[in-house]
Amino acid sequence: MRCSPPRRPGTCRVDIGRRDTYDLREPERSREHDTSEVVTARLIAALRLRDPGLADHGHRTAEVACAVGAALGCDETALDRLYTASLLHDIGKLGVSEAILWKPAGLTTGEWTVVRTHPEEGHRLVADVVPRDVASAVLYHHERMDGEGYPFGIPAHSLPLVVRIVQVADAFDAMTSDRPYQGPIPITAALEEIARCAGTQFDPDVAAVLPGVFENRTDARIPEELRHASPIPGLDPPGSVPAAAQPSLISLRGRPV
Ligand SMILES: [Fe+2]
Repeated sequence: MRCSPPRRPGTCRVDIGRRDTYDLREPERSREHDTSEVVTARLIAALRLRDPGLADHGHRTAEVACAVGAALGCDETALDRLYTASLLHDIGKLGVSEAILWKPAGLTTGEWTVVRTHPEEGHRLVADVVPRDVASAVLYHHERMDGEGYPFGIPAHSLPLVVRIVQVADAFDAMTSDRPYQGPIPITAALEEIARCAGTQFDPDVAAVLPGVFENRTDARIPEELRHASPIPGLDPPGSVPAAAQPSLISLRGRPV
C-alpha cells in the first residue's frame, strides 16, 4: 500500500480587474505549519547532503510507518505527523562523524557513547519547530517497552503511538536495508525478529500489524510502491534498494539502527 503525507493545496480566487479571475494555488495551512514544513525540508536536505543513505532510511521508514499507522486506524493528521517524525527521527546523526556512521564494523565504547547522543541532539534541533509528538519520536525512538532503551530508559508503553510506530518501522528498515556494517536480510526474517521482540523492545499491538503491510510481498524487500516516497516538496525521492542478502541477525545487535 502506498501512503502519502496529506498535501492539499487550496485555491485563492484573485480578481485582477478584468472579467476573468485566476486561481492561485495556496496551501490551506497556517504560517506556523508552513514554517515547520520548510524547516523539516531543510533539515532533511542537510541530512541527505551529509549521508544520502541515512536520508533514504528516513523515507523508507516513513512509508512503512504510515502503512502501519493506516492499519492501526490513524487519521490523516496522525499519518502526516508519523511521516514527518520518521523523516526526522535520526536527524541528530548530523552531529555524528562519518568515521562512526560509516564504520564497517562494531563500535568502540567511546563511539557508541557518541551515537547514543543523537536522539537528544536531534530533539534540540527540531523541538521548537515541529509538533510535540514528532519531536517525541526524535527523542524517544530508541527507548524500549522493557525500559532498556536509551537515552532515558523509560518504558515505551508510556510514549505516544507515533513514537511506538516509528520504533518498529525504524528497526524493520534497519534490518532490511544495506548498512556499512550489515547487509540486508529478507522481509520474512525481519518480521520474525520484530515479532520475537514484541513486548520487550516493541509495542506488541504495533508489531502485530506489521506483517499485514507486507502480506503476499515476502518474496521481495520493500514493495515497489514503497520505494518511491512522497517526500516533502523539493526533496529527492529515495534511492534504489539493494538486493537482499542472508546475513546473520546476531550482528544486528549492538549497533544503532
Ligand atoms: Fe536512531
